Amino acid sequence: MSPIYIALAFGYLLGSVPFGLLLTRAAGLGDVRQIGSGNIGATNVLRTGNKGLAALTLILDALKGTAAVLIAANWGSDAALFAGVGAFLGHIFPIWLRFKGGKGVATYLGILAAFSWKAALVFAAAWLAVAFLSRYSSLAALVATAVSPLVLYIVGLPDFALALLALTALVYIKHAANITRLVSGKESKIGAKG
Ligand code: G3P
Repeated sequence: MSPIYIALAFGYLLGSVPFGLLLTRAAGLGDVRQIGSGNIGATNVLRTGNKGLAALTLILDALKGTAAVLIAANWGSDAALFAGVGAFLGHIFPIWLRFKGGKGVATYLGILAAFSWKAALVFAAAWLAVAFLSRYSSLAALVATAVSPLVLYIVGLPDFALALLALTALVYIKHAANITRLVSGKESKIGAKG
């Protein structure tokens, strides 16, 4: 089998570990899919009221993307790219949860960081600025993932920028309900329980 398919499968398996769900269950907080937006990501884990668990979910969801890329980089740059895409797909379509996973934002950041720490810093700055001003995690994610492919292109990684653009499109598709709520003014703000 070609290394890129092995990298894709490896990345997928790593990305499919649903840390938000596992951590909230382990902490006795029940099924995070039953609260708030129903998402398994850090923003929704925060709606359980446990900030530490939300931070841990963010870190682990990001790290699985970073780890997939960095490990697969040993097999070449194509393998690294495919492992990153695999990790992202694993997070949003995990086989263990009948392909109903998260929205991919933290894993996206982790993958981006493995390719360019400068691009990851721009992502973080964009996310923090929008989140600070609007208090909407989803809006921050939509802005940060919109600018990231352009930043990768500017730092001299046009091939990766193109792949990242496809991941951004998937982030937008997974945020369809958030976008509807943002437009109608019904999106819940960071830290709000609902
Ligand atoms: O990273 C996910 C965030 O953009 C939206 O999360 O739970 O508000 O749908 P949530």
